[in-house]
Order: sequence, then structure tokens, then C-alpha cells
Amino acid sequence: MTHLAIAANALRKSYGDKVVLDGIDLAVPEGTVFSLLGPNGAGKTTAVKILSTLITADGGRALVAGHDIAADPQAVRAAIGVTGQFSAVDGLITGEENMLLMADLHHLSRREGRRVAAELLERFDLVEAAKKPASTYSGGMKRRLDIAMTLVGNPRIIFLDEPTTGLDPRSRHNMWQIIRALVSDGVTVFLTTQYLEEADELADRIAVLNDGKIAAEGTAAELKRLIPGGHVQLRFDDPAAYERAAGALHETVRDDQALTLQIPSGGTQGELRSILDWLDAADVHADGLTVHTPDLDDVFFALTGPADVPDQPKETVR
Ligand SMILES: Nc1ncnc2c1ncn2[C@@H]1O[C@H](COP(=O)(O)OP(=O)(O)OP(=O)(O)O)[C@@H](O)[C@H]1O
Ligand SMILES: [Mg+2]
Repeated sequence: MTHLAIAANALRKSYGDKVVLDGIDLAVPEGTVFSLLGPNGAGKTTAVKILSTLITADGGRALVAGHDIAADPQAVRAAIGVTGQFSAVDGLITGEENMLLMADLHHLSRREGRRVAAELLERFDLVEAAKKPASTYSGGMKRRLDIAMTLVGNPRIIFLDEPTTGLDPRSRHNMWQIIRALVSDGVTVFLTTQYLEEADELADRIAVLNDGKIAAEGTAAELKRLIPGGHVQLRFDDPAAYERAAGALHETVRDDQALTLQIPSGGTQGELRSILDWLDAADVHADGLTVHTPDLDDVFFALTGPADVPDQPKETVR
């Protein structure tokens, strides 16, 4: 039997008459990465705050590291680390001082605190910066320091609330490496993110939060299977060629502005070959052809729609 690091049942939370969490269930096995996705304001941070005992739920129950969040919040806190959406780094003091402060909070001896701080600063590539005020750090360095501080107490479960928001692609990939390394050490990671690609990369299981409820939950592959398949998109430079092609091809979705046609397709080699044969037979010569397989963005839009933004042409080259 796999043990659950986090098990939540019918968690509810409202602010005034706004229902933020309308009874959510979560099950996160030990040593896995669980990602909670959802649009702005969906309640991701609220869920993190409840599970990490920073705020209380209005209803429902949850066990974190085997301890009841309501009955035994101290035991929960001793087992977890939380890196909030907004940095806990104090900019006025150095990176090292921030680390030592955390060590103090965890009641480590001076000596042990110094050892742990030095080790984590090394591990997160912050040795050179350690003696500089944290306010001089780049966003990526601050985020690394934030996580290093979270790890001072050697937590077995960590909550990362949007750890890569605002980071450049290289820093984001660094953060992914850090998270993978934590997981290979057996740590359970509860991750919220706006980046579907990030959940796709890291998470064993993903839940999509929308309208106070878990709209879908599963592996990335399972979620992608929930929504209709991909398509091949043909792009035309010449409006006349576009019109001819649109007339020749049936079952396509037209975009008269972008001069593109979408042909439903799973994107397999066989399907592509038959589409190409079919285009040749219809004497259609597209200026660009891209294959679009459903990704988590599609799942996200399908589950959290209808969006309040107007339909946007979707990027198909990834
Ligand atoms: N202390 C509070 N008082 C009143 N409303 C709150 C409070 N905290 C959160 N909310 C509301 O609860 C809802 C969920 O907020 P939450 O911060 O959990 O969303 P989120 O999914 O983390 O969003 P984001 O992606 O923007 O971080 C929002 O409508 C927010 O305005
Ligand atoms: Mg949030």
C-alpha cells in the first residue's frame, strides 16, 4: 500500500459569500510531485495555506504527513516546508543571514545551523552571493534562496506555490532540476503553477482547480486524453490559394484572418501521410504545415473555459 503524504477530503473555504474551495479531495502519494493548476484566483494559494496550516478550512478534513491539520497543526508544521508565492527572503540581510535565521527558527544549534546553511548555500549555488544583501539578488537567486530556506528543517513534504513565476527560461529549468533532485531524495512536492508545461515536466499527477472544484485529476497523459485530438494546420500566404484549398477540403476549420485551415488528425505518421496524399490529390500547396498534438494548454482551456478573453489564434509550433 502506498502511503499518502497528503490526503484531503471535502475541503471548503469561503471568504464572505465567495466560495473559494467548494469541497475538494486530494490524494498525494509519498515521494511524488503533485501539481495543482488553475487560473488566477482559482484558490491554489488558499489550498496551500490550508494544507500548510497557515489558515484554517471552513469544512472538510486533511491529513498531512499523517497528522490532522486541524487537530495537530504543530506536527504538520514540523514535517513540511513551504515556499510561498511571494518571497520570504529578507532583502536587508545577506543570504547567509537569512539561512541562519531559518536555522534559529528550527531551533538548530549554532554549529548545526552553520553547517546546514553552508551546505544548502553550496547546493543552490549561492556561496559567492552569501555575504551580499539579498536585495541585490536576481529573481532566480532569490527563488533559490527561498527554497534553500524552506529546506533548512529537512522537511519530507514541501509546498511550492508558483516557484517559477517570473523566472527566465534558464532559471526555470534550474528550478526544475532542483525539484527533481528533491524528489529523488524522497521528498513529496506539492506544486502550484500557471505553467502547464511545468506540470507536464514535473508532476506525477495533476489536478485542475476551477470554480472551487477539482475539474479533472490524473497524469498529464490522462488529462490530455480527456479532450479532442490534435490537428494539422495548413497556412497560406496567398488568399486565393487559401480559398481554393478551403473549397477542396472538407471537414476543416477555417481561420479567414490568419489564412489557416485545420484538419483533425492524431498526428501519427500514417495519418500525416494520408493528409499529404490527399493534399497532393486536391492540388493544394500550403506555405506552412504544422502538427498540433493536444497539450495541457488545450486541457486547461477546455476545463477552465469559457475564457473571458476573446478567441486567440493558438500557437502551433512548439
Ligand atoms: N484573505 C482573503 N480575503 C478575502 N478574499 C481572499 C483572501 N485570500 C484569497 N481571497 C480570494 O480567494 C480567491 C482565491 O485566491 P487564491 O490566492 O487562493 O488564488 P490563486 O489560485 O492562488 O491565484 P493566483 O494564480 O493569482 O495566485 C480569490 O478570489 C481571492 O481574491
Ligand atoms: Mg496564488
